[in-house]
Amino acid sequence: MIRSVRESDYFEIVPVVNEWWGGRQVDHLLQRLFFVHFQNTSFVMEEEGRMVAFLIGFVSQSQENEAYIHFVGVHPDYRNKGIAKQLYEMFFNKVQELGCCTVRCITSAVNEGSIQFHSKLGFLVSLEKDYEGEGQHYIGFTKRISS
Ligand SMILES: CC(C)(COP(=O)(O)OP(=O)(O)OC[C@H]1O[C@@H](n2cnc3c(N)ncnc32)[C@H](O)[C@@H]1OP(=O)(O)O)[C@@H](O)C(=O)NCCC(=O)NCCS
Repeated sequence: MIRSVRESDYFEIVPVVNEWWGGRQVDHLLQRLFFVHFQNTSFVMEEEGRMVAFLIGFVSQSQENEAYIHFVGVHPDYRNKGIAKQLYEMFFNKVQELGCCTVRCITSAVNEGSIQFHSKLGFLVSLEKDYEGEGQHYIGFTKRISS
């Protein structure tokens, strides 16, 4: 079952993300405000009441017709079953309804799995050199979702 995020999901998701990200410390990037202000474009997948995947995304306030996916995570036991792809499709449909035609995201240059996943979903991949300061390179992804 896929549903919109709720504020209370913050308390379930934040404690597991470092483990889901293979030990990388990423929990500080997921603030409670995302679970309050982006509920209509953020989703949780549950199986028998257990949270197994989530996507946090929003419509850009300043880039016209653009949406942004901030975080996506799938429980390690549930990977490679098409779950993240399903969440992305749900997000694409939702933001298309809201007038968006481009979706962007950014990932750390060390996150090879994320780069492979986004490439498989048809995102254009670009190197964002010095994105957050000198030497802090990221990988950017861009996908047009309508003509
Ligand atoms: C990246 C992640 C979200 C993918 O979730 P998933 O549910 O396993 O992905 P899907 O099953 O929907 O995969 C969709 C496609 O991407 C491919 N893919 C997914 N993860 C991949 C990986 N690590 N390496 C290579 N290909 C991968 C799948 O093979 C599939 O291809 P197909 O359509 O040809 O079959 C998941 O591995 C994860 O949670 N990783 C840790 C958190 C993270 O890094 N998030 C992304 C940055 S915010």
